[in-house]
Amino acid sequence: MFLAEEARMTSPMLHVSLRGMHLLDTPILNKGTAFTDEERTAFGLHGLLPPHIESLDEQAVRAYEAYRRKDDDLERHIYLRALQDTNEALFYRLLIDHIEELMPIVYTPVVALGCQHFSQIYRRPRGLFISYPLRDCIPELLRSRPNPDVDIIVVTDGERILGIGDQGVGGMGIPIGKLSLYSLIGGIHPAQTLPIVLDVGTNNQERLKTPEYLGWRHERISGDAYYDFVDQFVQALKHELPHTCLQWEDFANPHARPLLDRYRDQLLTFNDDIQGTAAVVFGALIGAIKASGAAMKDQQIVFFGAGAAAIGVADYLREALVASGLSEQEARSRIWIVNRGGVLRSDRTDLSAEQRVYAQPAERFASWALPSTGKIDLEAVIRNVRATILIGLSTVRGAFTESIVREMAAKVDRPIIFPLSNPTDRSEAVPSDLIQWTNGRALIATGSPFAPVESGGRKIPIAQCNNVYVFPAVGLGLVASRARRVTDKMMIAAAKALGENSPALRDPVASLLPSLKDLRQVARDIAFAVGTEAQRAGLAEPSSPEELRDRIAATQWTPEYPHLVRAKP
Ligand code: NAI
Repeated sequence: MFLAEEARMTSPMLHVSLRGMHLLDTPILNKGTAFTDEERTAFGLHGLLPPHIESLDEQAVRAYEAYRRKDDDLERHIYLRALQDTNEALFYRLLIDHIEELMPIVYTPVVALGCQHFSQIYRRPRGLFISYPLRDCIPELLRSRPNPDVDIIVVTDGERILGIGDQGVGGMGIPIGKLSLYSLIGGIHPAQTLPIVLDVGTNNQERLKTPEYLGWRHERISGDAYYDFVDQFVQALKHELPHTCLQWEDFANPHARPLLDRYRDQLLTFNDDIQGTAAVVFGALIGAIKASGAAMKDQQIVFFGAGAAAIGVADYLREALVASGLSEQEARSRIWIVNRGGVLRSDRTDLSAEQRVYAQPAERFASWALPSTGKIDLEAVIRNVRATILIGLSTVRGAFTESIVREMAAKVDRPIIFPLSNPTDRSEAVPSDLIQWTNGRALIATGSPFAPVESGGRKIPIAQCNNVYVFPAVGLGLVASRARRVTDKMMIAAAKALGENSPALRDPVASLLPSLKDLRQVARDIAFAVGTEAQRAGLAEPSSPEELRDRIAATQWTPEYPHLVRAKP
């Protein structure tokens, strides 16, 4: 096998020992029709390739034409995955050239189809399948990894894949897709990424009944057996790859938080669903607050929904309020959270420990005008509080009604309104309504994609809070700074850097989040913020800011072909 060391060298020259078909079958080295005449001679490729020699530019045009001939999304996904398994440089070059069109095919939403049909479309191995029956040889499985040096692992157990639930081994589509974005945007070299699925069975009866299902045909293991298995994996990983970043992905809610809490102080690890999501929403909020011209310390925030997502965002906002000069108590008093049972208040007995942090003292409501039911709902909170920010993470379609939005907008100049629930038909409001009800004053970000809205002769683009704005850049920052742990402060630093890159700061009708085309550049700023915070916290070796920036630039790989020369036997 070739050495990953060889493949990641930024030098234009690479010493390679593979020849002939073995070289053409190695996607990280293969150049296809772009092998030069000299390389064809050196590696025994004459005759194995058609004679015309193409450039990477020409190949990218031809690959795009072939892509355009596919007429459904799953076929497009299969085509791109096959290209990735044939020629990685060309795959990434194509993605960079057409990022807005191709990212939704490689990752969400189309990757969901790839996971559902994983067993039918499976062609070539990629990453590691660690199945429960093989639990006693996890160290050997890790040692069989395709490439020795690994910077980032994305691992899933396939239980809570996007909005489509338990996909068992089919969940592997997610780590593969997500790592593609680490390489595309963060520039983590593909040879240094490793997708892993922990195959602990599936409770998806449809999958179990399908004759083609490729996973372990067993119901999910649970309880101690589950946690012991995950622990065997983590301990083996700590031994085998002690400096590698482990990103947890699409674990079900009951497992996600306990696993993060158990391991966050043991290795370089984070959970993107929890920390990445909160960082992206927080980053968009920072952009919105700055665009509104107000200060963080003057914000009054109302959440609709008190689930994992809302509490994650509230925790980051609380830290930011404290950092802006408020006391912990004052910061908590600025965050109002409403769920099915009404506003979170101290006399409620149905709150979790995480929710209780945001329970407002019952006395605060003594002077409020309340509905006859006595339940303090969203409408009552908006009537009694001068909310500057309204965030929906409730899954309740249309919850931000015209009267609620008009009431909020009557009290503030630029109301910040984020209907974040997914999918589109669960959104708490539609951006065009928000623009209309606030006469174009609302600063909006959504969870699902929405088309730009026409208002007063202008087209207002709508930012979508997609985790891709943060995780690839965080990965770049961790790798370049050689950080030893991931902290929430590092995620908050990432969010701030994202907020500072908000186009709305330069143009009041621009989107709150950068365009995808600018993400590789923005990723460097975010990575710098992450690395700087890691150094400040003593979790990475100190360096000058210039040195850190240089390391980030050198780490961010750009897909191009190196010149291959024969390795000496
Ligand atoms: P969850 O199920 O844990 O929480 C939902 C919350 O909404 C609960 O507190 C529940 O009490 C509340 N709720 C539900 N119906 C209600 C009603 N009729 N009245 C008042 N409160 C009600 O869900 P989770 O994981 O917190 O996600 C919530 C939504 O946010 C989902 O639609 C998810 O897709 C979306 N989301 C969007 C993200 C983004 O934009 N990047 C990131 C994460 C989640």
